[in-house]
Amino acid sequence: MAFDKKLFADICQEFTVTGEQLHEIAANFRYDLRKGLEDSAQSSLRMLKSYVGLPTGDEKGEYLALDFGGTNVRVLRIRLEGAGKFEVLKKVAKPLRVEGIYDFVGEGSTAEQMFDFIAELVDEAIEGDHTTHYLLGHTFSFPSEQTNLYNAKLIIWTKEFATAGVEGEVVNDLLKAALHRQGIDNVEPTAVINDTVAVLLAAAYKQPDTYIGSIYATGHNTCYLEPYADSADAPMILNLESGGFMKLAPNRFDVAFDEQSEKPGEQRLEKMVSGRYMGELFGMALAELLGEQGKKYGFTSIDMSNIVLAEDAAGVSKIVAAKTGHELATEDAESVRELVSKIIVRSARLVTASFVGIIWQLDSETKPRKQHIAVDGSVYEKMPLAKENIMRALSELLGEEAANIDTVLENGGSGLGAAIAAAMSQR
Ligand code: GLC
Repeated sequence: MAFDKKLFADICQEFTVTGEQLHEIAANFRYDLRKGLEDSAQSSLRMLKSYVGLPTGDEKGEYLALDFGGTNVRVLRIRLEGAGKFEVLKKVAKPLRVEGIYDFVGEGSTAEQMFDFIAELVDEAIEGDHTTHYLLGHTFSFPSEQTNLYNAKLIIWTKEFATAGVEGEVVNDLLKAALHRQGIDNVEPTAVINDTVAVLLAAAYKQPDTYIGSIYATGHNTCYLEPYADSADAPMILNLESGGFMKLAPNRFDVAFDEQSEKPGEQRLEKMVSGRYMGELFGMALAELLGEQGKKYGFTSIDMSNIVLAEDAAGVSKIVAAKTGHELATEDAESVRELVSKIIVRSARLVTASFVGIIWQLDSETKPRKQHIAVDGSVYEKMPLAKENIMRALSELLGEEAANIDTVLENGGSGLGAAIAAAMSQR
């Protein structure tokens, strides 16, 4: 069976962001930023205060870092050495869900079970030492309302997490109680930060001129240093929860996918761009092309990478056959590769539009300052076409001034950033 040519062209069109749309999205993002600074109720961006600015680079000492935000939880013991240097002394990691064995992220699990599991991991990282006093920085990568660096209440789960009894709670209180249940009273959680904030702290610890931090992975979100130029307030990093940006034109696949998701109506941008969702969108579109509308194949963003990188049509066909049971003709396999590329390019363009919205807001009167945008995450790091299309879209939006801006990979920023936040909590 060959794909219907018209249907294929229509689908590709639906996953295309034109130059004009790109400009409009960046401008709308900037508008929501400006509105959000006045009153977040008027913006689709949550603009959450982090109660932390940028580090000096001279932070020192040994800290614990808990990185909790995806299916893998990590605990690290990190020594900050100042001058942007650090050493990871110990690292332990475990998944929160192992198919058929345990699941701490589904509806059936409770906050206690989840945090007890995390406390056990902390115990591993300190190798059962219940005497040395440690400050712990906690990268908690979900939208949280903060009143200070310690106190962060989960507003709503994202990324399809559904554990009962965490929404509305102060996550560090849950962690503290779990540590106490295991007799770990020498570990003191003092700071909670979003992973975007962690990435920005980690990058700024190592090099100046970094004001924007972003995650482009399972989920997507960005933060930036708000200078509060016209007020007496000290500069502070704001977690935009940009995955919730709404001023976009979702196509019918986006809409249908959203309807079946854990939180319909939430996280529109994130559901169009992040690794957790791209494979699903691709699968939905492919099902139409294969005449099996509504069928779920379970494609992931890793499958998408492999399709782009496949040596030839036969390679693409093999990946598709493994998930769908359909053997594709050469021409259709090439079409599949084109569709996958369209979805990735759309994602990179939308993410870039949000970066440029921030850049415009930061330097509204002048040319954009020279700066690095720190990005962490598997999509940015590993997905073919992502980085190059970010650069392309930056040029499209900023013209020659794009030369002032680059994106840098801040690998492992979630852990390092948490340690830096713990160090900064002592100020
Ligand atoms: C989701 C979370 C956000 C986090 C992002 C990346 O969008 O809501 O807090 O930063 O995923 O992990």
